[in-house]
Amino acid sequence: MCGIVGYTGPLNAGEVLLNGLSLLEYRGYDSAGIALFDDQDISVYKQIGKVKELKDRCADITDVSHCGIGHTRWATHGGVTNVNAHPHKVGKVTLIHNGIIENYHDLMERYKLASALVSDTDTEVAARVIEHYYQELQDPKAAIWKTVSELRGTFAFCVLFEDVPGVIYCIRRTSPLIAAATPNGAFAASDVTALLEYTREFFVLPEDTLAVLCPEGAFLEDAAGNAVAPEMLTVDWDVESAKKGGYPWFMLKEINEQPRALQDTLLPRIENGLPDFTEEQIPDDFLKRCKQVCIVACGTAMYAGMVAKALIEPLLRIPVSVHVASEFHFSNPLVDDDTLMLVISQSGETIDTLDALRLGKEMGATIVSVVNVKGSTIARESDYVLYTHAGPEQAVASTKAYTVQIATLYLLGCRMAMVRGKMSEEDAREFVQNLLQASEYEQQVIEENNDAIQEIARHIIQFDDAYFIGRGLDYSFSLEGALKLKEISYIHAEAYAAGELKHGTIALIEEGTPVIAIATQEPVYRELLSNAIEVKSRGAYVILITKKGAHAPKKAYDVQLTIPDVDDRFTGFPTAVCLQLLAYHASNEKGLDVDKPRNLAKSVTVR
Ligand code: F6R
Repeated sequence: MCGIVGYTGPLNAGEVLLNGLSLLEYRGYDSAGIALFDDQDISVYKQIGKVKELKDRCADITDVSHCGIGHTRWATHGGVTNVNAHPHKVGKVTLIHNGIIENYHDLMERYKLASALVSDTDTEVAARVIEHYYQELQDPKAAIWKTVSELRGTFAFCVLFEDVPGVIYCIRRTSPLIAAATPNGAFAASDVTALLEYTREFFVLPEDTLAVLCPEGAFLEDAAGNAVAPEMLTVDWDVESAKKGGYPWFMLKEINEQPRALQDTLLPRIENGLPDFTEEQIPDDFLKRCKQVCIVACGTAMYAGMVAKALIEPLLRIPVSVHVASEFHFSNPLVDDDTLMLVISQSGETIDTLDALRLGKEMGATIVSVVNVKGSTIARESDYVLYTHAGPEQAVASTKAYTVQIATLYLLGCRMAMVRGKMSEEDAREFVQNLLQASEYEQQVIEENNDAIQEIARHIIQFDDAYFIGRGLDYSFSLEGALKLKEISYIHAEAYAAGELKHGTIALIEEGTPVIAIATQEPVYRELLSNAIEVKSRGAYVILITKKGAHAPKKAYDVQLTIPDVDDRFTGFPTAVCLQLLAYHASNEKGLDVDKPRNLAKSVTVR
């Protein structure tokens, strides 16, 4: 949940670290800090608040350092204070950490640290244990190995030792950490976004392997001191893709990038007009033979899974279940060798999703993941990976990752239906054609509906609550619409299956309560209109989303928003864009930080 960056080489380390932290800020933004080697000394600068505030605090550093580490924090242990911010400096050891040390309390007692600790963090405990062993063993590597052998939990560490200028030691267990060696020095970071300005080639630090970064390169070794060869990866993201590119917020930029992201994700997997997963080597044989599909994910990714279920289950006529990843372990899931497990994650690092993947694997499922970040843990631990090509997603609220996840799952569903004889080749071609056109539908909504949605947002921000209703596929879209609105505008928003209203929820409707009624599915259109009329007649302010040309009586809505008149199965793409714009404008009109909503971080690597 925190962002880590380390650099050693000829460049100005302070600048490299502060720029890297700005690019990683979506991982955590309650405080930030850097530590810089200057001659034989290490200076630490920390500041609560955003990276911008740390930059201001560092503005008067005059010495140029060539080695340092930086951290942007999402507090887990201990409140948001300068003392709790990283780096933590203890004697000759300076440390940054992403993860949670579960046995920090035992370590505190074993090493009698209670009176020495100055912060409330598990990280300082780890720093003090490393310092303890450094004093005893006088060897940085041995001190780190000894310490990590005693740690339980998750960690990615970058460590400096005052006696070893210009060298950064890195090690991780579960928490992400990548590194790169370039002609301009060696880098470490939580993800590649921070490094795009310097390189697109990197490697994921293998777990429980020590990386020693110095200006000449990045060298890996195992606990026995044997050299380990890194497995190099390349991303095709460019440095501009990680910047705002003239947009006021990343979220708006990413909403606008969706049509392109959809094409980039779909086109490499379409051969002769049909879905093709040869590149990913997913065997048709298993797609044909599996007896159930089990989807696990968190948040928005899970809602993408709900959309996929609504499409795939009726198509394949086999059970498709969607699981909140954090509940999976406790649900005694029905998973076996005949299960296709679809694991969806933008970051590929969400720990709850990773835990669920590992359990599913243990139980014999075949894992296909849908992941945006190359080389991420979920991608590496899956049997097969379907990378989405959305480019870096920087806003905490997921937008483009969601629509490309749905598109990928649709394509996979179509292939499964084909090989299982549930869809003719002709129908599959038509399905793929429609899917490809979804990017045009998204573009139309961006161009035609933005102003109207901004007006609606101005109206709904006067209220504390909003409700989203839909039936069938529309219900799945409404779940994501409500999440988007609440997480960035702080308006309490809930989604309900429209038919459920009269079983309790309708009691919440008061004069003016905004209700976003999604009515894009023809078989349930009339029923949905009845529900809209029911809430409107009780005072709700109804925003009705329909296809263009759909007739709705005036008594069913206050404002009507239309999306292109497309096949029911594909309305999710333009509808998602409407709902994302609504949340975006509500947050922006309220003057909030659209990209970094309170209490949240983009990559949730703690349980
Ligand atoms: C909401 C949002 C989150 C993520 C969730 C899973 O806008 O972004 O709900 O979808 O934390 O993250 P990933 O997809 O990285 O596993």
